Amino acid sequence: MKIAVFVSGSGTNLQALLDAEASGFFKSEIALVVSNKADAYGLERAKKAGKKTFFEGDGDLLDVLEDEGIDFIVLAGYLKILGEELLRRYRGRIINIHPSLLPAYGGKGMYGLKVHEAVFDNREQRSGATVHYVNETVDGGKILIQSSIDISRLRSPEEIQQTVIVLEHELLKTAVRFCEEGIL
Ligand code: GRF
Repeated sequence: MKIAVFVSGSGTNLQALLDAEASGFFKSEIALVVSNKADAYGLERAKKAGKKTFFEGDGDLLDVLEDEGIDFIVLAGYLKILGEELLRRYRGRIINIHPSLLPAYGGKGMYGLKVHEAVFDNREQRSGATVHYVNETVDGGKILIQSSIDISRLRSPEEIQQTVIVLEHELLKTAVRFCEEGIL
């Protein structure tokens, strides 16, 4: 598959995918990294890895995806709602990583540390990460793969975040591999 990874922030999930590609963990090619934020550090990571980047303010995203022959999209910390036309063209070929055990702690306004604060405040014994297909409902698409961990000994939302992000990195690259192998 020719993959475009969409980021809005630090891009540690992107980095996990770049490393996985370089190590041959999956065969797909990360052909483009897109961001809605010109200063997203994920764009720096992409450039360091020799990847093409595209800042959405610079032109038409759909044209760029078509020009690059993109056939699969991975949202990795991308904090913007996708447009209808993009969702239509790539239906069933867009996945997202979310830092909770969906459907719990998902949906509008549930992103970043807010997720872990809600999990912590509710004294959850377990949390984790989810990769799901993307559709019109925020965090509502079919769940592909999840990873969970006991968080009963963790003492803050930050500790939960630092623990869950490690699961995310493993889960996302595995989801890409399973998608390219047709398992998911
Ligand atoms: C991750 O926790 C991801 O699950 C969420 O946003 C965060 C992005 O982190 N969607 P990074 O930019 O990949 O480091």
